[in-house]
Amino acid sequence: MKILITGAKGQLGQDFKQLFEEEGISCILTDYEEIDITDFNAAKNYISKYSFDFIINCAAYNNVDKAESDWQTAYKVNGLAVRNLANIANEFKAVFVHYSTDYVFDGTKKIPYTIFDEPCPISKYGESKLLGEKMVRDIADRYFLIRLSWAFGIGNVNFVKKIIEWSNGRKELKVVNDQVSSPTYTKDIAKATFDLIKTNAYGVYHITNSKYCSRYDWAKYILDKVGWQGKLVPSPSDEFKTPAKRPEFSVLDNFGTKDIIGYDLPNWENATDRFLDELKS
Ligand SMILES: NC(=O)c1ccc[n+]([C@@H]2O[C@H](COP(=O)([O-])OP(=O)(O)OC[C@H]3O[C@@H](n4cnc5c(N)ncnc54)[C@H](OP(=O)(O)O)[C@@H]3O)[C@@H](O)[C@H]2O)c1
Repeated sequence: MKILITGAKGQLGQDFKQLFEEEGISCILTDYEEIDITDFNAAKNYISKYSFDFIINCAAYNNVDKAESDWQTAYKVNGLAVRNLANIANEFKAVFVHYSTDYVFDGTKKIPYTIFDEPCPISKYGESKLLGEKMVRDIADRYFLIRLSWAFGIGNVNFVKKIIEWSNGRKELKVVNDQVSSPTYTKDIAKATFDLIKTNAYGVYHITNSKYCSRYDWAKYILDKVGWQGKLVPSPSDEFKTPAKRPEFSVLDNFGTKDIIGYDLPNWENATDRFLDELKS
């Protein structure tokens, strides 16, 4: 099995690196320097030199707020570049693995979203990721299209790191309590993806840690674990003026994933505990 990773310096890419080293899997890790996924010819030229069984695309434009104004870049990286990689994967007969997000949904459903629900994004970021989904479905011959939510891992900034940073030297912190989803550890995503792609059950999947919570619940859990003594205040999203709207309830139903990989992912508390241990070490 020979694997190409794009966007390898990010959270998920870094955890794939570690997993494939442990598993002894042959894997080439690339980020901007080696493959800018928006450059079709350069990407094709690079990929043509090897023979990959899988192209795993971890590259993305993930700045949700910035995407409101810089939407063309978001569309380019999250949408048009996905078209590039899907075409290249076809040409070189590789399976294409791509990630999308809970933010393709509007968050009004109140119960977890299944793979059968119709996306309806409420931000430019969500729109750009939905365009990427369309590119995968329309173009790739063999693909795994995997939606994730609230990802956190060692390789980049994320909510856990930010909450710890914001709490430093503060006595009070406000966190939104009307955004709900499943925090998901990129180590668990990497492992579940690996187990998934070893099958040939191509298609659309949701992969998240089990259970769900609000941003406030998650922050409380993190800050209790690190022994913060301050006061955490639950607040509505209206109190924080951000350029992009976020869905209120964007929990993904992993229905169908367990059938193929044989297990549910650990719950988000367990995942957060392991990440905090990783941060310490
Ligand atoms: N983070 C989340 O909460 C979340 C939630 C749901 C779904 N997802 C999806 O899960 C996947 C993995 O996310 P992640 O959190 O691991 O992302 P990440 O940490 O932001 O990593 C993405 C990597 O891709 C690189 N990149 C950006 N544009 C590129 C380009 N044109 N060519 C090559 N590399 C490029 C980034 O470089 P720079 O950092 O220098 O830009 C970064 O190293 C993405 O598809 C993401 O949209 C993430």
